[in-house]
Parts: sequence; structure tokens; C-alpha cells
Amino acid sequence: MSTHILVTNSKGGCGKTTVATNLAVGLHNQGKEVVLWDYDPQGSSVLWSHNRIIASEENSRIKPLKAVACSSNKTGKETLSFQRYKYESAPFIIIDATAGKISDSELERLIRISDIFIVPTMSSSFDIKATEKFLTGLLTHRLYRSRPRPVGLLENRSVGGCETSDGFLSFLACIDIPKIAELKDSPVYQKAADTGLGIAEMGETRAAQREYRAWKQVLTWVGNQLIEELRKPPRKASRSSRSASSSAEALATKDAS
Ligand SMILES: Nc1ncnc2c1ncn2[C@@H]1O[C@H](COP(=O)(O)OP(=O)(O)O)[C@@H](O)[C@H]1O
Ligand SMILES: [Mg+2]
Repeated sequence: MSTHILVTNSKGGCGKTTVATNLAVGLHNQGKEVVLWDYDPQGSSVLWSHNRIIASEENSRIKPLKAVACSSNKTGKETLSFQRYKYESAPFIIIDATAGKISDSELERLIRISDIFIVPTMSSSFDIKATEKFLTGLLTHRLYRSRPRPVGLLENRSVGGCETSDGFLSFLACIDIPKIAELKDSPVYQKAADTGLGIAEMGETRAAQREYRAWKQVLTWVGNQLIEELRKPPRKASRSSRSASSSAEALATKDAS
């Protein structure tokens, strides 16, 4: 049985690949076997994984991490390599997918199989509006409502003095979704992407150390969700999932009215 972590939002450029690849490195550094599923035909996670192979040839402490291209650039359909691969399992599968760019049936499959949802967002009003809409759609989706699972928001590219809008934070509180960490806008992310590394491998610069603290928060949150999920009796809704479910129902009612 694999743990599937879906990193998604309907918005492009909000940091899904950045989050997916850094999370992969974080879990790998905890000794976990991780594979990335790249649902973006642009294949940024796959490119990152290729960059990482080069990095591993230059530095023996860097270990390659597998990324599988899931949809083909030309047809948008599943690639042959993914069709072969998807029945193999790894303990942790991190899925990098833009909800608006994949078919409804693919999105449904991902919602069905995912154990944890991480939603990166930036804090501009455009991004917040799109994320609000996306979260409402996810929490009211029948496949989510029938089996509520942990959802966490990751604020990305935050800049000093420009705080996430109060309205958005109260929206998150109302639907019981935590903001799990805040990643600063920093060139260290660009550098990590270009060199196939994660923040934890970016050395001792002040920016890398600051971001490393944020990533520790993310990994702690993921670890806590896994412990919570293990405590749940199989297929029975716990108190927290019932409360997530009632939040989802509240949203559905709000939407319908
Ligand atoms: N916190 C950050 N600070 C600086 N640049 C970032 C940050 N997060 C992402 N980026 C850069 O922004 C661009 C888009 O990020 P990416 O993760 O590819 O978004 P998505 O996968 O959602 O399209 C990339 O060039 C990436 O390196
Ligand atoms: Mg991407």
C-alpha cells in the first residue's frame, strides 16, 4: 500500500512542482522511498529529476529520485511508461498535478487514491480567489465527501509586508483547513530546481536555513497526518473527518444557496 500525496491547485505557477520536489527530498532524507508522478505535460518534475541525476554524478551524497511522466505532451493521455509503471508501488507517491489541466476522470482518480492533499497558493488576490474556488470544489466533491482526508495549504512566495488577506484566512478557518507553512520568495528555490536539489541540500546560506525551517514544519504536518490516519478505524469516519465533512457540507449548502 502506497501513501499518495497530491500536490495540486487549479492555478499554474503557484509552486506545485517546487513543493512536490522539495517534499520528495524531505521524505527521502527521512529514509523513505519516494516516487514523483508528474501530471503536467510540461514535465517540470521529470526535468528536475533529470537535473538530479546530473547532480548525483557530481556529488555522491545526492541520490537520484524517480519521476514518471504521466500525461503525454501531444495527446494529454497517459504515457506508455506510466501505464506500465502505475501498477508498481513505492511507499510514497507524490503527485504533481494542475487540477485545471487534467481531465475530470483523471482528477477523480487522483482524488480517489490520494491520502493527503497539499495545496500551494500565492497570496495575491487573483491567486486567493482561484484557490478558494479550487478548495470549495475539492471539499464538496463526492469522492472527497465520502472519505474526507487531510488537506493543508502552503503559502508560497510570500514577501514581507504583504500578508495573506484576512478574508482568506477566515475562509480557511471556516472550512477547517490549516495553513501548514509559509515559503518565502527566494532565489534559492530557482537554484534548487535548476540543480535537481531540495532546500535541505542547499547548504548553509541564510535563505536556505530559513526555508529549511519551513520545510521541517511541512514534514511534521505530513507525519502527523499519517499518524492520525493510522489511528482511524478502516473506512469509518473519525471525529475530525466528520468535522471536515460537515465543513464540506456547509460549503455545499452555501454554494447551492
Ligand atoms: N518560493 C519561491 N521563491 C522563488 N521562486 C519560486 C518559489 N516557488 C516557486 N518559484 C519559481 O516559480 C516558478 C513556478 O513554480 P513551479 O513550482 O514550477 O509552479 P507550478 O508547478 O505550480 O506551475 C518556477 O520558476 C519556480 O522556480
Ligand atoms: Mg509544475
